[in-house]
Amino acid sequence: MPRRDPRFPTLEILDHPLLLDRLTQLRDRHTEPARFRHLVAEAAWFVGIEATRDLALGARRIETPLMPMEAPRLAEPTPLLVAILCAGLGMVEGLLQLLPDAPVGHLGHYRDPASHRPVAYYARLPAHRGRRVLLLDPMLATGGTAVAAMADLARHGIEPSRVTLLCLLAAPEGVLALTQAYPDLRILTAALDERLDERAYIRPGLGDAGDRQFGG
Ligand code: URA
Repeated sequence: MPRRDPRFPTLEILDHPLLLDRLTQLRDRHTEPARFRHLVAEAAWFVGIEATRDLALGARRIETPLMPMEAPRLAEPTPLLVAILCAGLGMVEGLLQLLPDAPVGHLGHYRDPASHRPVAYYARLPAHRGRRVLLLDPMLATGGTAVAAMADLARHGIEPSRVTLLCLLAAPEGVLALTQAYPDLRILTAALDERLDERAYIRPGLGDAGDRQFGG
């Protein structure tokens, strides 16, 4: 079962040993980009397993080679995956292994150099009627980008109750900012780290998740 932090009731901190072992490899500065990308996808797979644990099931009549049976099948549309660019891209592959039919959307923000606020530069979402949304960003740092992404989703008619945020590392400052804006938002992470530093990096963290995946 995921661990809980009394400060953040909607945060689930996953503790599967195979996930935590991968997270340590991600944190290691010597892990090269190709291996890092592979590990991001694998770690996202574990977080995806937990995020989809409550998908609704129905029954379907099938025949095994031996006899007919009523067998469970997913009863709700496959969730929409939404990657926050660019670091969230690496998580898509892991989620698509679980949900091969999932549609995928992308949201991009850059940080305005003067105001330090995220500014949307790209938003493309496929049809999402009735689907839950799995929002993908490996790093929940200040929470600014996640709050902006939630606003993007709302502009596309997606209410917060349909959204789960999947990340790999979270800082308490980011969880606080996000849950102040969206108190009921379900957030899953592989680890809740100590703090943000003065440059808004998560400590101890893993560095810049985009640069480590794609170079930079
Ligand atoms: N984004 C990252 O990639 N790393 C951090 O530590 C904070 C934000």
